[in-house]
Amino acid sequence: MRKPIVAGNWKMNGSLELANTLTNSVKQSQNDDVDIIIFPPFPLIAHVANQGVLTGGQTLSEHESGAFTGEVSGQLLKDVGANYVLVGHSERRTIFSESNTVLVQKFAQAQTSGLTPVLCVGETEAERESNQTESVIAEQVNAVIDQLGVAVLANSVIAYEPVWAIGTGKTATPEQAQAVHLFIRNLIAEHDVTIAQGLRILYGGSVNDKNSDVLFAQPDVDGGLVGGASLKADAFSAICQSAQRNA
Ligand code: PGA
Repeated sequence: MRKPIVAGNWKMNGSLELANTLTNSVKQSQNDDVDIIIFPPFPLIAHVANQGVLTGGQTLSEHESGAFTGEVSGQLLKDVGANYVLVGHSERRTIFSESNTVLVQKFAQAQTSGLTPVLCVGETEAERESNQTESVIAEQVNAVIDQLGVAVLANSVIAYEPVWAIGTGKTATPEQAQAVHLFIRNLIAEHDVTIAQGLRILYGGSVNDKNSDVLFAQPDVDGGLVGGASLKADAFSAICQSAQRNA
C-alpha cells in the first residue's frame, strides 16, 4: 500500500501569523494514514519544522554551496528541518526557465542532501490539445531516469500537475488524472516494477475540498499537491480528511 501525501505549496504567500494558524490546523489533521507536508517560502521552513510538521523547500540550488547569491542549498534546507523539496514546479520551469537538464541536477542535489525530491511534471493546454501530453511527461520523467538511473525514483515522489489546471480553477477530471498517473507508473515499470508500484504520484492543479474525494479515489492517485486551497485551514484539513478516507 502507498501512504497518501497531502502537500501544501504556499508559493510566495503567507506570513509568520498565517504559518502559525495553518501549522496548528495541520497538527490537528496529522495521523498515521497520511503524510501532510507544507512547502512554505524559505524563511518559514525552520518555523514550520519546529512545530512538528513535515516541511520542505519549493526549490533548491543545483549547487552544493558557494558564491550563488540568493540561492539556497539542499544541505541548508535539511539542516533547518526540511525533509522534502519540490523540483520542477511549472512556475519554476516557465517563469525561471528551469530546463530538464538543470532540474536533473537539482533532483540529484536534493538526494545528496538527504531530501526527498518531489518531481513536478505536466503539460500545457496547447500540448494537451495537440496530443503531446504523454510525450511531454515522458520527456520530463525520462530526463531523470536517463541521467541518474531508475533507482533514484525509489526515494522520490512525483506530482502530476497539468499546467492548465494550476491556479485556474480548471481541475483535470478524475479520469484524465488517472490516465496520466497510470501512464507515469507504467513508464517507470518498464524499468523497475517494484519502484513503480511503490512510488507515490500526487495530482496537483486546482485541488479543493470539493474535488479531492473523487480525485484521491482513483487507483493511481496517491494524494495531492495543493496550492490556493492550502492557504485556507478549513479547506486544507478537509482535503487531508479526503486522503485519509481514501488511504
Ligand atoms: P493550485 O496550485 O492548487 O492553486 O492550482 C497547485 C500548485 O501549483 O502546486
